[in-house]
Amino acid sequence: MHIILGATGHVGSAVARALLQQGQPVTVVTRDAAKSADWQQRGAQVAVADVRDAAALRRVLQQGRRLFLLNPPAPPDSDSAAEERRTLRSILQAIEGSGLERIVAESTTGPSPGAASATWACFMKWSRPWPSSPFRTASSAGPTT
Ligand SMILES: NC(=O)c1ccc[n+]([C@@H]2O[C@H](COP(=O)([O-])OP(=O)(O)OC[C@H]3O[C@@H](n4cnc5c(N)ncnc54)[C@H](OP(=O)(O)O)[C@@H]3O)[C@@H](O)[C@H]2O)c1
Repeated sequence: MHIILGATGHVGSAVARALLQQGQPVTVVTRDAAKSADWQQRGAQVAVADVRDAAALRRVLQQGRRLFLLNPPAPPDSDSAAEERRTLRSILQAIEGSGLERIVAESTTGPSPGAASATWACFMKWSRPWPSSPFRTASSAGPTT
């Protein structure tokens, strides 16, 4: 089972649709139960969860083997860097102990130590200490790790 964060948005919906078209099992994550019917008609399972609730999100992740990790964009009128660090920490907490085998994390900036993006610098810091980390990173310029 593939778990897709941000599945109702621009990027995540493209990922979810592509997997469904391949006949893959998909669970889309949304905060809004009203969006469930459309995705169920496409053949997806739907999990209603907010990534800020790490315990609830972990229960969703425990149902899957692979995760498309999209850290949601913070509201533009918020302290977006702080909010995106907060949501990313929660997602990473949810991943711990989830049993996921493989994670693909979406980024639009270089996911490397010292990168300009505070969110992704945080991501790299948090993901590295795990001895058998399921994370793999890559960029349009080619694999980085
Ligand atoms: N698309 C672009 O042009 C663009 C440009 C630059 C960077 N990016 C990067 O790409 C990422 C995704 O962009 P996008 O355009 O796909 O975003 P989007 O269309 O705005 O979609 C955001 C997604 O995040 C989900 N979400 C938001 N807050 C959530 C929360 N607290 N818990 C669970 N889910 C939550 C929304 O789901 P629900 O509302 O259904 O809960 C929705 O599926 C962003 O993080 C951004 O860094 C995108």
